[in-house]
Amino acid sequence: HKHWPGIIEAYKHWLPVTKKTPIITLQEGATPLIELQYINKIIGKDVKVYAKYDGLNPTGSFKDRGMTMAISKAKENGTKVVICASTGNTSASAAAYAKKGGMRSFVLIPEGYVAQGKLAQALVYGAEVLAIKGNFDEALKIVQNISNKFPVTLVNSVNPYRLQGQKTAAFEIIESLGEAPDWLCIPMGNAGNITAYWMGFNEYYIAGISKKLPKMMGFQAKGSAPLVLGKTIDNPDTIATAIRIGNPVNKENAYKVKKESKGKFTDVTDEEIINAYKILGKEEGIFCEPASASSVAGLLKVKESIPSNSKIVCVLTGNGLKDPDCAIKNNDAVFKEGISPDIKTVAENMGF
Ligand code: F0G
Repeated sequence: HKHWPGIIEAYKHWLPVTKKTPIITLQEGATPLIELQYINKIIGKDVKVYAKYDGLNPTGSFKDRGMTMAISKAKENGTKVVICASTGNTSASAAAYAKKGGMRSFVLIPEGYVAQGKLAQALVYGAEVLAIKGNFDEALKIVQNISNKFPVTLVNSVNPYRLQGQKTAAFEIIESLGEAPDWLCIPMGNAGNITAYWMGFNEYYIAGISKKLPKMMGFQAKGSAPLVLGKTIDNPDTIATAIRIGNPVNKENAYKVKKESKGKFTDVTDEEIINAYKILGKEEGIFCEPASASSVAGLLKVKESIPSNSKIVCVLTGNGLKDPDCAIKNNDAVFKEGISPDIKTVAENMGF
């Protein structure tokens, strides 16, 4: 197999780059599309469900697709410092790509609501981390203001290059399946990713590479579902901290995507999220973070309305290793501690 160069080199004709753009990459993209056989059995009706496992990107989330573009363009434009607000994944990705591009990165995170793995990454990749006593929505407002006043480039999904990079996941899905799926199930936080996917699907559709467009099925956590309720949530809450967002910056885009694709937005409870999270782990062998499991939780919630014989892709946006606390609290595993170190005791504990 040929060496994978990362999404900019692979899709340069579809992206706003020129020969002058310095490509800052960690060889993100080319993530697997995995058939979910257990989920297929639950749904029946000859439906085929696949997971686009974007948690296998270099920093463990889909953000890397957008960050390689945002940081490469920032480098091209002479940026020395980047900033973002983040529930964790954007900060990890921004930190890694900024360093690769020789820049400083500042990240604002909601104190106490960022999963351990993500915080560890931001620190190791050398971000300058500012934990605020506030939520993501407040952090985003601050970084937008800072980037308007000071020579700092904002790399949240309001940066148009982010969505350009993220649309490549839709290209990869079409290349794997030979055409677009009937449904795309995706978690929504700030609604950048759903906007990016829709852009990607449309570009391949217009070019004739796919004969159809998917219905875009967006899912939010029940305590943080502004796009389902149609109003801003002041104190968003959910176990899925990645999507603990009450005022999505891309909301207008999200509503447009829903309308154009004849899609639907639905909320899922934390319980439903954890149920899907556990099924993915113990039945499918896929460890994702709770926010990501909301795409599968949502699909299971609306399973009565799935058309027979359809092909469905659920986006698993982040790796399960990001949130070890959630994993350790939410599993049905056998875990016995204090076992005395001898063959007899171990054998007994194995049921022999
Ligand atoms: N899934 C994960 C794992 C995420 O980290 C995010 C967003 C989303 C889904 C939602 O994507 O915002 O494009 O609708 N995380 C951002 C962050 C907010 O700061 O890492 P979206």
